[in-house]
Amino acid sequence: MRMQLQYYDILESTNITAVEKAAEGAPEGTVIIAAKQSQGSGRMNRVWSSPSGGLWFSIVLRPKTAPEHIAQLTLLAGVAVLKTVKKLYRNCSPKIKWPNDLLLDGKKFCGILSEMRLDEKGAVDYAVLGIGVNVNLQEKDFPEELKNTAVSLLMYSADYHSCNEVLMNFLNEFTAMYSEWLSNGSDNLFCEWKSNNCTIGKNIQVKDDDKVIFEGIAVDLNSQGALLVRNECGIQRSFDFGEISIR
Ligand code: BTN
Repeated sequence: MRMQLQYYDILESTNITAVEKAAEGAPEGTVIIAAKQSQGSGRMNRVWSSPSGGLWFSIVLRPKTAPEHIAQLTLLAGVAVLKTVKKLYRNCSPKIKWPNDLLLDGKKFCGILSEMRLDEKGAVDYAVLGIGVNVNLQEKDFPEELKNTAVSLLMYSADYHSCNEVLMNFLNEFTAMYSEWLSNGSDNLFCEWKSNNCTIGKNIQVKDDDKVIFEGIAVDLNSQGALLVRNECGIQRSFDFGEISIR
């Protein structure tokens, strides 16, 4: 995949710009990067704090695959960030919390927000993967309410890397994994995800709109990448989105 990088000093949200460009026909591999975002968005309509010092970007993809496989791209991007961090930062052991939070010692340093549009025939027109990595933020850069739950790579590690270095390494990992996934499917991806996650085997609560809708042990991913959860009565359900909290 040929990457075409477009840098901005400030955007409302790289996802908004990437979706606009994709709707205008931007090719697969278009990457929108902003030094800061004024309206960064997270999952569940949350605000994503995006001051300068972080890596905020969105990738336009046009995979020729069924819409139900698109959620796997979020897992793929998470594993690609994880591999990037392990390669660049010594003594860092990031873990993935299903589906797409990357944590260091339980604190979040990366989130992923994916969007998709189908064409009139119901096929995938484009997917946009929006990725936020707290690379070089300092403690003072985090809003008060995130100080206990969020962290940056700079705060965590003795190593320093620029946002652009992290981006270039990520794009290398991502393109290799993406073409493998397109050719061979999800087996390798799920295997890498499972060996780096901190969700399976844990007692979790699945939430919708902050309400607990199911509680049990996370047992596995299913063949589509959805999370299988079994409650104490032995009832098993799969969740392909939602918010979980690990207990
Ligand atoms: C989450 O809630 O964990 C997802 C956060 C995703 C944030 C990234 S930053 C780049 C892109 N632009 C946005 O507005 N959001 C995503």
